[in-house]
Amino acid sequence: MTTESTANLFLRPAVDSEFWAVARLFAALHQFNAELDPRFRLAEGWEPLLHDHFTRTHLAPGALWLLAWSADEPVGLLLMEAHSDSPLFAERRWAELVALYVAPAHRGTTLGWRLVEAGKVWAATHGFDRLQLYVTASNERAKQFYARCGLVATQEIWCADVLPVPGTIPPHDPSRSTAGHAAHPTELGHHHLAMELSDCSDEELDNA
Ligand SMILES: CC(C)(COP(=O)(O)OP(=O)(O)OC[C@H]1O[C@@H](n2cnc3c(N)ncnc32)[C@H](O)[C@@H]1OP(=O)(O)O)[C@@H](O)C(=O)NCCC(=O)NCCS
Repeated sequence: MTTESTANLFLRPAVDSEFWAVARLFAALHQFNAELDPRFRLAEGWEPLLHDHFTRTHLAPGALWLLAWSADEPVGLLLMEAHSDSPLFAERRWAELVALYVAPAHRGTTLGWRLVEAGKVWAATHGFDRLQLYVTASNERAKQFYARCGLVATQEIWCADVLPVPGTIPPHDPSRSTAGHAAHPTELGHHHLAMELSDCSDEELDNA
């Protein structure tokens, strides 16, 4: 591992015209995750949804869509988002590392570390005292990498498969707005990209 190997890489926030690069690396990340567990595969039609999310948030102060470039080749992606959890909790704001991907040819260099460091700097300069992320339990390489970046595990997600009663359709998440009403702020939480969208503004959350 040498610093020269990343010296010619440039890290910069993605601009409008670079959505193709974001989408390419986002697809590769989720292909990687789906190989660890098929339940993590992206849905049909994910790309316009991601495009919409990118268009709405890439210039927002609460998000960082950072790309690493080797000449004109995108080789790394970091997505950070400000997270507001339910006002039920005293500690409800943190900087969430939503996505991290380094192209295979650039692994084992310091690029991944540089991206995480950029995420930490973004978090600190935006007033957060914590960076947080989800990682697949079987992703040993990523877990070793995060540990080396100074992160520690604080929670685990446990799952059990159940057999659904035939013919039943799961009800909607109650935090979704219904009949024209925005979700109540106490019902919000979890990972932004994984969350169904609601009409709640940050002001509503702050005043809840
Ligand atoms: C996670 C990722 C960003 C880390 O970047 P990286 O350049 O691979 O990280 P490094 O090579 O610096 O460090 C990886 C660590 O895992 C070890 N490692 C290397 N290959 C490994 C393998 N096949 N299996 C397990 N560990 C491995 C390395 O030795 C190193 O450990 P060390 O610090 O004790 O020496 C990158 O691997 C990646 O993009 N992976 C695919 C997407 C992904 O998993 N993203 C994170 C989702 S939460």
